[in-house]
Amino acid sequence: MNYELAALVLGIHIAAAAIWVGGVVSLGVLSVAIRGFKGLDEGFRSRLIVHLAQRLSWVIWPALLVAILTGLYNLTWYLPGGLSSLPSSTNPYLVAKVGLVGLVVVLSAFHTLTVSPAIRRGVVSGMDPARLRRARALNGILGAVILVASLIILFLAAALQFY
Ligand code: HEM
Repeated sequence: MNYELAALVLGIHIAAAAIWVGGVVSLGVLSVAIRGFKGLDEGFRSRLIVHLAQRLSWVIWPALLVAILTGLYNLTWYLPGGLSSLPSSTNPYLVAKVGLVGLVVVLSAFHTLTVSPAIRRGVVSGMDPARLRRARALNGILGAVILVASLIILFLAAALQFY
């Protein structure tokens, strides 16, 4: 085993995880802060949030992808049988971690590719902001679930050390 390479990849894995979780927290806090800033017109606030979410997506999606790819590399030294033994692994923390990563990917894809574009189209076409509230509430719930799942992934990652 090449220890220097394993340490480098684990460092990249942790940095990518930090960027992903930090980005999700930032998006949530900024969206709530901008939405609650009554000094700005509601249509402008919506456009600002859409713009911000689009820019942040360019940072957090690659970070999640890097975390997954480096996570798969970590398995080459973490699992006694290497990466190919992942499907038969009985390590409960690993099974839960990989399952939650899958859930986070699916929910984030739904958030970014389905609900957010619908809100964006509504904002661009000048739709009455009141009509967009349901889609916004759904996106808020999705964001909260993604954040909680991502935080649990961090605790499961720590637990991997001690299994
Ligand atoms: C398929 C995806 C993933 C796999 C297979 C995976 C696997 C692993 C493995 C084997 C380790 C090393 C554990 C050890 O040092 O004993 C690790 C560490 C870590 N992972 Fe992941 N990971 C994945 C995705 C993620 C994601 C998405 C995050 C964050 C949201 C994350 C956060 C971390 C952190 C913070 C550590 C360092 C903790 C430690 O060294 O104990 N991982 N991961």
